[in-house]
Order: sequence, then C-alpha cells, then structure tokens
Amino acid sequence: MPEIKIKGGKRLSGELCIQGAKNSVLPVLAGTLLCDGECIVHNCPEISDVDISLKILNFLGCGCKREGNTVRVDTSGMNNDEIPDSLMREMRSSVVFLGAILGRTGKAVISNPGGCELGPRPIDIHLSSLEKMGVSIKEEHGLLYCTAENGLKGADIYLSFPSVGATENIILAAALAKGKTVIHNAAREPEISDLADFLNSAGARIYGCGSDYIEVYGVERLNSTQHTIIPDRIVAATYMAAAAVTGGDITLCNVMPSHMVSTLSVFRESGCIIDPHGKSIVFKSPERLKRVPTVRSLVYPGFPTDAGPIIIAMLTVANGTSVFVENIFESRYKYTDELKRFGAKIKTEGKVAVVEGVERLSATAGKCTDLRGGAALILAALAAEGESEIGEIQHILRGYEDITGNLLRIGADIKLD
Ligand code: UD1
Repeated sequence: MPEIKIKGGKRLSGELCIQGAKNSVLPVLAGTLLCDGECIVHNCPEISDVDISLKILNFLGCGCKREGNTVRVDTSGMNNDEIPDSLMREMRSSVVFLGAILGRTGKAVISNPGGCELGPRPIDIHLSSLEKMGVSIKEEHGLLYCTAENGLKGADIYLSFPSVGATENIILAAALAKGKTVIHNAAREPEISDLADFLNSAGARIYGCGSDYIEVYGVERLNSTQHTIIPDRIVAATYMAAAAVTGGDITLCNVMPSHMVSTLSVFRESGCIIDPHGKSIVFKSPERLKRVPTVRSLVYPGFPTDAGPIIIAMLTVANGTSVFVENIFESRYKYTDELKRFGAKIKTEGKVAVVEGVERLSATAGKCTDLRGGAALILAALAAEGESEIGEIQHILRGYEDITGNLLRIGADIKLD
C-alpha cells in the first residue's frame, strides 16, 4: 500500500468541489436492489467503500457500470441472496444490504459485520426491528440466516437508539413490505432523507425523513430511476479544517451548508469566517485559531461523531485548551496516539479528550487507524514543519475521493508514494 507524503506548513488556498456523500451512496446502492430494471446514480464518489458495494451487487448477480461519477446498476439478473463473509468484512456498513435483499427476495444470509474500529458495533437494533417485520433470524457459525416466510409485513417500531444504519435497513425492508411501517425515534441524518428521496423517486411512499417519526407505506414494486447523491458534509469539514490549520482560505462548491450547521458553528467559534452562499461556502481562517467551548458529538442535528477527529486535529494548533466529548462510539480516540507523534498535546479518558493547543506540530511518520482518524493525520501533517509520511492509507481511501489531488490543487506539497 502506498503512503502519503506531505511537506507541511504551506498555506492552502483555492476552490474545491465536494464529492457525493459516502454515507448516502452506500444505502442508495443497496436500495437499487429493490428497483426493477436499471438505476442510475450520479455524484457517486470514487472511493473503495463504493467499490466494495459494487462488488456485493455483482456477487448478487447485478450488472454495474461506472462512467466517471455516474454508476448504472441493473438488478434484473439478481440470482443470489447471500453476501460472503469476505465482502461483509471488507466494509462494516455492508449490513445495510440486509434490509434491501430481504425486501427483494424475502431471505438473506450475511455474516455478522462485527469489528472494533470504533469500539463494538452491534447490529441488535437492526435485527430486532427486522424481526418485528416478520423476519426470523438464526445465527450459525457466524452466519445470520434471515427469512421472512410469509413475506415482510409493516410494523410499529421504536428504536432504543436512533441508529442511522438501523433506520436505513428498516426503510429498505419496508419499502416493498405489506402494509405500513412506522419508525419512532428514527435517526434524522440527511443521508437518510437522501435514501428516501431515491426510493420515492422510484415509486416508494416514505414520509417524515428528517424527523424522528417516519412512515413507510409498502408498495407493490419500484421502478428504475435516476438519483444524484447529496454532498459529503464530513469531507467538506475536512477541507475546511485543512485550510484552517494552514492559515488558508477555501471556497467549497457542491456543499449543503444547511446539513452542516453544528459543524460550521464550531469552526466559527474557533475564529474562522464562514460565508455560505446557496450550495457553496467561502471559508477564511483567522491568524491563530482559538480554543472552543466543549464540543459534544450527538446524533443529527448535533455535532457529527465523524467530524470529531477532524476538529480535534484542528484544535491541536489552536490557542488554548479545548474539550471534546464523544457520545456515539465507545472507543474513537485510537488515532490520538498517532496525533501525539506530531507533537499534539491530547489527553483522553473514556469519552473525553482534552486538547491543549500548541504553536506548531512537527513532521513525523504516522499510521492511519480508521477513516476519519486517518484524515486527522493528514491535517496534522499539513500543519507540521517538515516532511511527514502517513501509512495504512487504505482507511482514508474508503471515504475520500482523490484527497491527494484535491489538496495538491489548493497548494499542498503532497504526494502518493
Ligand atoms: C453511521 C455512519 C457512520 C457514523 C454513524 C453515526 C454510515 C455508512 N455510517 O454508522 O459514519 O459515524 O452513523 O453517525 O452511514 N448501535 C447499537 N446497536 C445497533 C446499531 C447501532 O448499539 O443495532 C450503536 C452503535 O454501536 C453506536 C451507535 O449505536 O454506538 C450509533 O450507531 P449507528 O447510528 O447505527 O451508526 P452506523 O449506522 O453504524
């Protein structure tokens, strides 16, 4: 696997267009399984998680074609309802295929995605919700055999936590189910509304996404359709932070400022000037970033857990001490050990990270531990004096399209080596 080499300390300035959202495109690609004929998905980022989703679709018998950022999926040849363990393991969010396969065929075999990248990631809420819809689930040798003997039926479901993936799985399973499904305490993330917009454009009847009360009226069939994926709000935050740690400025196009209210507020508190205009943001960093009052990750519209590593990396060079509280995942601070190699002063205990800003970071070799933690290392390297090397970048490639090319375009001294 190549490494990313960065000579830090260069001020970044320029304009970037933001890729489609990873967390939208994955459930939308799963959702194509529910549609008859060919679906066309635009603004589909070239990232490895999308490649894995396409591999899963291929394995299930679907035809997939990519032309630039447009992907065509023809599900008419689907002849399989099992996802092999090797593909399940490659991407934890592959679990979102479960609701879609069940919706299409009434049965599915997947393995437990498990894993510990951010601490335990159980799927109990997904499974108990699907059981309420008539699915019986047997676990044998690490495989989950899921069957809806009499077809999926609508249900009244209360989520004990507003899980993003569980909300998506239920919507996917409910779109073609018999009768009405209600989700109480549903997740409200914009990527869920994007999935519903895609399915509704194919003829589904899904109402209330963006609120915590979602209704899905099952329909007989879904048609082929076209859909454009919303911009990735976490990638947008990453490029703003890249400008911020180098004292630079950046104009982002293809962004949705309304999806980023909590994140923009933290950037503003650190002294950045942010000017949203329609689907673009003009961003300028202050001479020295300021400490910010305690930031807490929360479910949407709260501060996104995925932007935590990005903001923490930025605060390592702010003036003063800031506190971050991680409320969504149990163990999301592994990357902070790598940030410390750059000279960052961070102490973590349980959910809390205390970041004491320093004047300067210094270049070093770091290894990515996960996707957003990897992005945090890139930010540290951009801010640091000297040449840094970042390894294990396969984590970054899961979610960032051409990150080296983009940073190069706005003035970074960066190469993939
Ligand atoms: C999605 C996002 C991920 C983001 C996360 C929270 C995708 C592909 N990934 O992940 O980038 O960080 O939302 O915004 O969209 N939980 C359970 N049981 C379950 C399901 C979840 O206990 O059955 C717990 C999880 O362990 C975690 C919390 O709920 O602590 C949030 O998880 P969830 O909202 O489901 O996140 P994902 O859908 O996995």
